[in-house]
Amino acid sequence: MLVDRINQVVRKVPTWAVYIVYLIPVPVLLYMGMTGGLGREPIKALEHELGEIALQLLIIGLCITPLRRFTGVNLIKFRRTMGVLAFTYVALHLLVWAVLDVQALDRVWADILKRPYITIGMAAFVLMIPLAVTSNNKSVRALGAVWRKLHLLTYPVAILAGIHFIWLSKGFQLEPMVYMAVILALLALRVPALRKKVAA
Ligand code: HEM
Repeated sequence: MLVDRINQVVRKVPTWAVYIVYLIPVPVLLYMGMTGGLGREPIKALEHELGEIALQLLIIGLCITPLRRFTGVNLIKFRRTMGVLAFTYVALHLLVWAVLDVQALDRVWADILKRPYITIGMAAFVLMIPLAVTSNNKSVRALGAVWRKLHLLTYPVAILAGIHFIWLSKGFQLEPMVYMAVILALLALRVPALRKKVAA
């Protein structure tokens, strides 16, 4: 069966390969930024690209469980990889904004406190920290069921990230709305009654 074939192939793909492939955009974007490939505002462009990749990784992470439940395709071994990569991209996004864009610690704090879309982005980042810190095998074993409970944090993180994007976009823009709709649909699939309906 096709699903079994896909799962066989997936089993052979090491997680480190996914890390390498997904981290390629970092040096590529930095290089493009330094050589004029990111347009007239390279720092803003870099900030945006990193934020968007982070959001996509969060969404891919949320797709993995429903994908297995509804199709049998098992990418569970990459769920943690996607989470760690999402955190890496959010951290880089934050770093580019603070170090290259704002460039002053007092203004960084002022913006975090004063601009709601930045406060919301920061809240998402802070909620990701316990997940990133416990993403190693030792913590997974030590925390057991608590580790799984802790990962419920991915739901508010995704919602906050979606709101962050909608809030910072000026006027009505389709792209952030589509991201938010996808996030809400993926979270809705976790509601038991809806899950049964979709599976039926
Ligand atoms: C889970 C966390 C986060 C995600 C997924 C995320 C995602 C995004 C996305 C998708 C964009 C828009 C990209 C585009 O226009 O194509 C963006 C922009 C931005 N984000 Fe975040 N972000 C997060 C956290 C943060 C944090 C922690 C900060 C700073 C404290 C931050 C500051 C910004 C800024 C300043 C912009 C650009 C706004 C502008 O257009 O001037 N974000 N982010």
